[in-house]
Amino acid sequence: MTETKPTTTDAGIPVESDEHSLTVGAGGPILLQDHYLIEQMAQFNRERIPERQPHAKGSGAFGHFEVTDDVSQYTKAAVFQPGTTTDTLIRFSTVAGERGSPDTWRDPRGFSLKMYTSEGNYDMVGNNTPVFFVKDPMKFQHFIRSQKRRADNGLRDHDMQWDFWTLSPESAHQVTWLMGDRGIPRTWRHMNGYSSHTYMWVNAKGEKFWVKYHFKTDQGIENFTQHEADQMASIDTDYHRRDLYEHIADGEFPSWTLKVQVMPFEDAKDYRFNPFDLTKVWPHGDYPLIDVGRLTLDRNPTDFHTEIEQAAFQPNNLVPGIGPSPDRMLLGRLFSYADAHRARLGVNYTQIPVNSPQAPVHSYSKDGAMRVQNVSDPVYAPNSYGGPSADVARYGEPAGWESDGEMVRSSYVDHAEDDDWGQAGTMVREVLDDDARERLVDNIVGHLLNGVSEPILERAFTYWRNVDKDLGDRVADGVRSKQDETDPKADEQDNPARKGAKAKA
Ligand code: NDP
Ligand code: HEM
Repeated sequence: MTETKPTTTDAGIPVESDEHSLTVGAGGPILLQDHYLIEQMAQFNRERIPERQPHAKGSGAFGHFEVTDDVSQYTKAAVFQPGTTTDTLIRFSTVAGERGSPDTWRDPRGFSLKMYTSEGNYDMVGNNTPVFFVKDPMKFQHFIRSQKRRADNGLRDHDMQWDFWTLSPESAHQVTWLMGDRGIPRTWRHMNGYSSHTYMWVNAKGEKFWVKYHFKTDQGIENFTQHEADQMASIDTDYHRRDLYEHIADGEFPSWTLKVQVMPFEDAKDYRFNPFDLTKVWPHGDYPLIDVGRLTLDRNPTDFHTEIEQAAFQPNNLVPGIGPSPDRMLLGRLFSYADAHRARLGVNYTQIPVNSPQAPVHSYSKDGAMRVQNVSDPVYAPNSYGGPSADVARYGEPAGWESDGEMVRSSYVDHAEDDDWGQAGTMVREVLDDDARERLVDNIVGHLLNGVSEPILERAFTYWRNVDKDLGDRVADGVRSKQDETDPKADEQDNPARKGAKAKA
């Protein structure tokens, strides 16, 4: 039998009672000097920290990444050298829902990794999709607002989702993905993870390559249909969180095989697609997948708040041998995440153990709220007193590329086959089979019938006809015929929320 420990205050002082506050007689008032009662109430009132702006609902686990294949000809990063095993944290999430929202809503899933490498933390903050809705960070905030809640009634609103998407044709590839079977993974174990962005790899000779990461699930891809997901949302809001936790607790450790596509540096200039455009993939036929290693998850968190809720992933955590690419979205993200963490967790968030590197830290940061690691002199550089000194000779020049030109606000320069619809159309025509196309049509029709108003509906039909003429026609027919059956009243078109409630009923 385990010995019961005495309750103490947060200062370690034994308390007199877990049950009774200090009163003047049994029927008398509570005394202000009951500081333990006050500590209980005050701590409780401060238990919640702000949720992440996007990706609020999620969970994660610990494990390790082991290198199985030799990719040292492409990168000198210690984490990818043969024989290396690195402790790793992962967090999965949905994008638009709040902290308590159902795991099985149709949404991309986050796939965030923090690898505690010998050269500092390496974070790969990806999704379960290889592409994204927008390609300029200027539009990201607007995109997320369109997926979250309205200002007036606090409701989510398909009208504003489709308004944004149909006015942003670059979203077509990702929306096709989202409306397809993989828009609702059965579990986090049964989906892939992608860097989505292109990154740079640099080898020991200083040669540069462009690279995209694909973490392929070893459990196999499995998805929920819309109907199954809707049912699960009402039965178990936390289904994905529970599934991951229970499988790891039972010793069934999920794993993913990391494969990369590698593009020689010079290919980028005239590749048929702009290789830095986040709404495009590199077809496997052009750049085949190369094996790198395996990620295995084998340890659950023991305190969800300290280890998962306070985990802070940031795409700017790149280690020597890995750098950014000219992908504007990635460059925007290099700023955004650390800023979010300073706001959500405080300036010293890297000292929360889950965010602390295993590699030694010799930075010149000091002070600030909640700092726990001591700082020692000298507190400035350069100095004559043996403080840390940046070692260019050892770590080399930054992983970069040549850049010049007028300052402009413009879209990317298109490569030969760049357009917003082409790769989405390829997916519809060449990747999906008839049954998957049928489900895609059903999912789009169901989504559109849930409160999307008239001018936007017509735009949506055009949007899908641009992806694929037949698909667009089927979507239009599906919506119009179901409207005839269920909702002929034109006046309700003006009230998307009411229409949505009716459709759900
Ligand atoms: P490939 O035939 O080599 O690859 C097709 C890819 O599509 C595979 O990775 C497959 O994943 C994935 N896939 C299968 N079903 C679905 C689905 N319902 N939703 C999303 N992805 C699915 O073709 P290409 O590389 O030439 O690409 C053709 C199209 O495939 C692209 O335009 C893009 O839309 C899509 N795609 C491409 C990816 C890439 O990185 N090249 C990655 C994912 C999708 P799996 O192997 O796991 O079955
Ligand atoms: C979370 C910003 C694009 C994947 C977040 C957060 C912010 C943010 C502020 C919350 C961070 C926190 O509070 O911890 C942005 C911006 C983007 C962008 C500004 C574009 C300019 C993307 C893309 C992907 C992505 C393209 C995937 C490829 C994620 C994931 C999380 C997240 C997985 C959750 C991280 C976690 O698990 O804690 N994003 N994001 N984001 N974002 Fe993005």
